[in-house]
Amino acid sequence: MQKSFQRKIQELQKKQHAVILAHNYQNPEIQDIADFIGDSLDLSLKAIKTDANVIIFCGVDFMAESAKILNPEKTVILPDKTANCPMAGMVDAESLGWLKKEHPDAEVVAYINTTADVKALADICCTSANGVKIVKSRTAKKIIFVPDRNLGLYIQKQVPEKEMILWPGVCRTHHDIQKEDLLALQKEHPSAEILVHPECQPEIIDLADFVFSTNGMVTHAKESSKKEFIIGTEKGLCYRLEKEIPEKKFYPIPSAVCPNMKKTTLEKVLKSLETLEPKIHLSEEIMQKAHLPLQRMMET
Ligand code: 13P
Ligand code: SF4
Repeated sequence: MQKSFQRKIQELQKKQHAVILAHNYQNPEIQDIADFIGDSLDLSLKAIKTDANVIIFCGVDFMAESAKILNPEKTVILPDKTANCPMAGMVDAESLGWLKKEHPDAEVVAYINTTADVKALADICCTSANGVKIVKSRTAKKIIFVPDRNLGLYIQKQVPEKEMILWPGVCRTHHDIQKEDLLALQKEHPSAEILVHPECQPEIIDLADFVFSTNGMVTHAKESSKKEFIIGTEKGLCYRLEKEIPEKKFYPIPSAVCPNMKKTTLEKVLKSLETLEPKIHLSEEIMQKAHLPLQRMMET
């Protein structure tokens, strides 16, 4: 069954001149058919570089929207239109507008996990891979950072010279990882190195050996002399790690699941290639305004 889906997807992909991009948290069968797998930054870069007419984005809404903003002339499809990032929904343009008015001397750094109309109000975007570099690069002393408070706290610690105003958003998948989860795995696997995502709470970050974006974890695990790793992020990343580095061991946090990332199925990918729906639609005005902060991030 799975094989026949895969074959049909490949055939239609050629016919439609489509590229399949998949985030590191996608289900194994989606990672297996993807042309590229990556983190938010890497997939945005792949979206810019592709010469395909159609981008099938296996991820969540803000990722597909970013691909559309960066490639307005291309057809960008999110195979399940309900696959959203709840954290991106925690900040809205109107409330951010009010906060900007209260702090006219601040620059706004928007995590890429935001809606297009929030990006449109930002000076620059960032991802978990480049957040520290992006905040350091700004000339303003005061930075409004939206929406992830945990990532903001992590950046603030690395860049103490800035005064960061943090929005109270969180990613539940990462925020709910508990100290006890890590300590239990560490007890079972005492030689394992602990890698965590910066969306985790500060006490989790304090326990970690390293803090990385999801692609950062893959690169580190490949280059490290260590053989075992506790992976403090959504557990789907472990499929990619095990596939690309079969000689090493990876221990996921069993409860760390992002349900929206799991909504993409082979059936939905096939249907989206047949119908070229559901497309990402954004207004011209919002796309133009949101392009600048994404472009600035790419150039920093
Ligand atoms: P990465 O960019 O590190 O893959 O993170 C994306 C995300 O949504 C984390 O939850
Ligand atoms: Fe959003 Fe968290 Fe899911 Fe990432 S893991 S897409 S931040 S809800």
